[in-house]
Amino acid sequence: MKKILIIGAGFLQSFVIKKAKEIGYYTIAIDKNPNSLGFKYADEYGVVDIVDQQACLKFAKEKKVDGVMTAATDYGVLSTAFIAQQMNLPGIKYDTAKVVKNKYLVRHLLYEKKIDDISQYYEISDIEDLSGIIENIHYPVMVKPCDGSGSKAVKRANSKNELKDACTEAINASLIKKALIEDFIDGKEYGVDSFIYNGEVYVLGVMGKYMTSPPDYAELGHMMPSNLDIESRLREIVKNAVQVLGINFGAVNMDVLVTKENRVCIVDVGARMGGNLIGSHIIPIKTGIDYMGSIIKASVGDEIDLSVKNPQPCVATKVLALKPGKIAGLPDFNAIQEECKVVVYHHLEIGDTIRAYHNNLDGCGYVLAISEDRRKAIENVELARKLIDDGVVRVSYL
Ligand SMILES: Nc1ncnc2c1ncn2[C@@H]1O[C@H](COP(=O)(O)OP(=O)(O)O)[C@@H](O)[C@H]1O
Ligand SMILES: [Mg+2]
Repeated sequence: MKKILIIGAGFLQSFVIKKAKEIGYYTIAIDKNPNSLGFKYADEYGVVDIVDQQACLKFAKEKKVDGVMTAATDYGVLSTAFIAQQMNLPGIKYDTAKVVKNKYLVRHLLYEKKIDDISQYYEISDIEDLSGIIENIHYPVMVKPCDGSGSKAVKRANSKNELKDACTEAINASLIKKALIEDFIDGKEYGVDSFIYNGEVYVLGVMGKYMTSPPDYAELGHMMPSNLDIESRLREIVKNAVQVLGINFGAVNMDVLVTKENRVCIVDVGARMGGNLIGSHIIPIKTGIDYMGSIIKASVGDEIDLSVKNPQPCVATKVLALKPGKIAGLPDFNAIQEECKVVVYHHLEIGDTIRAYHNNLDGCGYVLAISEDRRKAIENVELARKLIDDGVVRVSYL
């Protein structure tokens, strides 16, 4: 039995762990949180900080794993690449992973190689760095941690003062203490997942995205098909971007903005499958391709099969972004699933506190619908989300 190490064991990784077991691998999961949900499903687990590359490598060597992967979290990407390279296992090149993990380096390459045309971009490590550039900046700009994820500390700035505040926040939220400033693009957002295998780039799916209203820029859900009329051009751009970035292996998730004039800008690249059920559910269900299974198998060097099996016409999801409060009672999820023809995945528990939804970590789970009719799928997930929100009883302190 081959042993696979899965880096990260939270709610979204638990789907990967289950799947790897189902395929027949011996699964070992690591996460620094000793109460990680995914540990329940793994054959074995270790409490290891997934950002600590040396600690992860030491663990992987001790366990003599045959493959390593991470999914749906950006924090594990570097450790995964590091282990794969050091232990000579299938994986993305470590140097490439380092470039992809830095939004400034990605932006620079995409511009230099003419993949997109965002020409105003700066990297700063200190608020003092602003003094040299602040007079030249054209607003509005977007500011984000260079190594951020889940939309944390991503802010639009329309003026000098807003820029200073946004930079301070982004630097503080960054592990490497760096922020990226770039042009703000006014466009519709799409998610694209690709899989790179044997030198081929397979663009598996383009998803339409729901986002929160400003000032937050967090994902609220996805739908497929995207109904984007330039989808084939977007797929070509994504393939070129993968090549330019040098990504040689595995899953890649991108966030792309498309303006009214059909200008295409890639604003985020992750060397891993998309979170928010993209890799585990949306792409596999809509395309009929076993995306997650293929990533898992490719990670241990086994044959993969990208053939289409039972694709579905339309898929929509909504994040359980709920009103804040301490949970005193839960709705009847089965009744909601039946009424709205959806599936609910949640981690709500009585006694837990729901936070106001500002970024991905504030979500409480997902609702997913499959339908012949795209609009119906979208309506169903939104109705179910609302029924769950209204059905959660919150503690009243009055
Ligand atoms: N240059 C930009 N212009 C407009 N919106 C942007 C820009 N960059 C990011 N965003 C918005 O902010 C969100 C989060 O930014 P992103 O770079 O994807 O960070 P994260 O890695 O946290 O997901 C994006 O999904 C998008 O909605
Ligand atoms: Mg993003």
